[in-house]
Amino acid sequence: MPSQLSIFTLSCIGAGRLGKTLCHLFSKQLHIGQIINRNQESAKLAVDFIGCGQAHTGFCDLKPANLWLIATPDNSIKQTAAALKNSGVLRDTDIVFHCSGSLSADSLALDNNATASVHPIHSFANPQNSVTQFVGTACGIEGQPEAVHVLQPLFENIGAAPFAIASEHKSLYHAATVMTCNYLVSLMALGEQMLAASGVDSQADSPSPLEPLIRQTLDNYLRTGAVSALTGPIARGDSATIEAHLGALQGQPDLWQKVYCALGNATLELSAQQGQASADSLATISNLLDVHGQ
Ligand SMILES: NC(=O)c1ccc[n+]([C@@H]2O[C@H](COP(=O)([O-])OP(=O)(O)OC[C@H]3O[C@@H](n4cnc5c(N)ncnc54)[C@H](OP(=O)(O)O)[C@@H]3O)[C@@H](O)[C@H]2O)c1
Repeated sequence: MPSQLSIFTLSCIGAGRLGKTLCHLFSKQLHIGQIINRNQESAKLAVDFIGCGQAHTGFCDLKPANLWLIATPDNSIKQTAAALKNSGVLRDTDIVFHCSGSLSADSLALDNNATASVHPIHSFANPQNSVTQFVGTACGIEGQPEAVHVLQPLFENIGAAPFAIASEHKSLYHAATVMTCNYLVSLMALGEQMLAASGVDSQADSPSPLEPLIRQTLDNYLRTGAVSALTGPIARGDSATIEAHLGALQGQPDLWQKVYCALGNATLELSAQQGQASADSLATISNLLDVHGQ
């Protein structure tokens, strides 16, 4: 490997939302080599976005690179790594990495190369926004020490905050990020549906009546943590209100009651830590949630 970062060449296989964003950011400190997609048009669009690199398709005529980013969808990472190996361009000294949250570096199955996974906890839905909003992004990193040693400073230089994650806990780590990001969206959508069922008429073109509550709750949670931020009937030990909610949920979609009860149980644990509600009232609520959450 070259000793100076500026003479490293990075090539990317699968320059979609994440790949093109990271290559654009890395282009300030690395030489960008080939941008390899299945489709020449999408490879060209990625090169235009990145501002450098050569658009390429397939695994013939690949040029050497010190760093290989495989940013295809998760289910093609392993076969892409195998195709890269079979192309003959890969040297033993090259580092190969992917950015999947759920797969570990081992999934690349490249025994002769140092490999790593670096998972940015960031939604790359819009690459144009991501290049300006990436600074401060936490990135779970694991893999072989030689690869981590090179990749960690590269990610730090583009403003990321890498932290070590154990390879064997990668799936649990990813489940946590999915629950916090994707399921939070689903939870808010369920709340909107319940509000509509209660007769509140939200206009599609005006802000949701829940918007201030969502913003205050997230702000309080991020500022003070879960136990201090928790308010509401379970935190107060108000079992009559919980009973009324469960009654109102009868006849509504089963999913609403299941989610209400499952998250109610998680809320009981936080309420016990908070200490505002009596143990007896929390036990009454726990029984109600058990009966209705089956
Ligand atoms: N998006 C996010 O918010 C996010 C966040 C964190 C981590 N990640 C991880 O980043 C990786 C990429 O995700 P993404 O959302 O950027 O995917 P994406 O937008 O769907 O892009 C995937 C790219 O891979 C190319 N591709 C697909 N199969 C290929 C193959 N067999 N060979 C070469 N190129 C191929 C596609 O281009 P062609 O169709 O032109 O080939 C496309 O440009 C995944 O591992 C994902 O888990 C994504």
